[in-house]
Amino acid sequence: MSNSSSVNIKFASGEHIPLELHKVRIVQKLHLVPIERRLQALEEGGYNTFQLGTLDVFLDMLTDSGTNAMSDNQLAAMMRADDAYAGSQSFVRLQTAVEEVLGQKFLLPVHQGRAAENILGRAYVKKGSLVPMNYHFTTALAHITENGGTIAELLYPEAYKINSEHPFKGNMNLELLEETIQKTGVERIPYIRMEASTNLIGGQPFSIQNLRDVKAIAEKYGIMLVLDASLLGENAYLVKQREEEFKQKSMAEIILAMTALADVTYFSARKLSSSRGGGICTNNEKVYKQLEPLIPLFEGFLTYGGISVREVEAMAVGLYETLDETMISQSPEFIKYFVTDAKSKGVPMITPPGVLGAHVDAMDFCSHIPQNKYPAGALAAAFFLISGIRGMERGSVSNQRDEEGNETYADMELLRLAVPRRVFTLSQIKYAIDRLVWLHKNRELIGGLKFIYEPPVLRFFMGKLAPTSDWPQKLIAKFKEDFGDSL
Ligand code: F0G
Repeated sequence: MSNSSSVNIKFASGEHIPLELHKVRIVQKLHLVPIERRLQALEEGGYNTFQLGTLDVFLDMLTDSGTNAMSDNQLAAMMRADDAYAGSQSFVRLQTAVEEVLGQKFLLPVHQGRAAENILGRAYVKKGSLVPMNYHFTTALAHITENGGTIAELLYPEAYKINSEHPFKGNMNLELLEETIQKTGVERIPYIRMEASTNLIGGQPFSIQNLRDVKAIAEKYGIMLVLDASLLGENAYLVKQREEEFKQKSMAEIILAMTALADVTYFSARKLSSSRGGGICTNNEKVYKQLEPLIPLFEGFLTYGGISVREVEAMAVGLYETLDETMISQSPEFIKYFVTDAKSKGVPMITPPGVLGAHVDAMDFCSHIPQNKYPAGALAAAFFLISGIRGMERGSVSNQRDEEGNETYADMELLRLAVPRRVFTLSQIKYAIDRLVWLHKNRELIGGLKFIYEPPVLRFFMGKLAPTSDWPQKLIAKFKEDFGDSL
């Protein structure tokens, strides 16, 4: 397996270009529809990008979940899937991959990442529990509150700074962790959760040194350490780039160094291995036995866990491919290009560039829109309108209301433009930057949003909103003025 990433390839011009180290062999046609149709699509979808259909979407930057490109080897492996309900050889191959790549003996398959969160929540969280974590992810939080627990988010102040040079904004605040444990009492803390490449603050990694320090505190108090490894490969890649001790280490060594510190590692395979499904793994037989009965109850038999066996095969191959720097570097290097270029042209972007996507600071971009009119949601809608690019709101719309039903405003209002692995070309990234820069110059034209239908749980998926004025029409008028008959 080749282990050089595109960062090592220099251009004579001195330009930093993330050269693609793969070729495209299967393609899918895209649709760039006229702006009038894009407005109609937005109206039909309640100004919520989750509600758009892909016939109206040009570049789908909603998420990397289940949208990373698969390799020829993954597709080939899917053809040899063993369909047995029990004792499938596909599962044996996945178990071997989990043992070799993640260093974990026991594997419980689940249908996706949040299913792992459901199982862990049911097994360990009860009324009054508190789970300290570096930061929440929407589904992780929802499953903890569903079981009567609460969370404590323990980051350093640097993590909340939009522009920073800090290489590891996802690090857990160790002083706050000790303080929280002492204040809460060990008996109320079922586990500490560390999320690799902290999603909601801009895909920011933690260092292995920080994970070691968290583990030492967890051990001191006898608390389990749970690692959300959905974006583990990217976290490992940035450790190699940014943490001195690991510069000469292989991806395999770095990944094993991380998982060895956790008592339980769980993941969404929709992200980690570019397939479907997920898993909970551990080397602790007691933990395995505690969780085991919940799998047939909620997921499926223990050798398929609600996942098609074809995807089980793809997952196994995808786990091995995570060790290949030419694969795992592609998305972070495209994101770095995106963020650096957009920022140099005045767009407020989260720095340092993280993983998963390029993150736009909507609080700054739309500083004229108050948080109760959802600046990140409005920016996501406006950006789709003028580009056909679908991003995701990661701000107050994605937050849940508190127990009294009051809004809880997000620490950060972000528009996330996901860059799934090996999906987009560099000219498509350049188009995204071009339209984003144009929108930034015309940002005063963007207005707010209000809910017209608000579901009680995970409202951002199915909720419907409406603009608070006729700002979409004004934005279209300016677009026509500047771009004429261009789509
Ligand atoms: N943990 C993290 C860090 C995630 O990013 C996700 C999903 C999950 C857990 C849940 O996994 O979707 O397979 O159930 N993130 C997707 C995203 C949805 O768009 O960021 P899942």
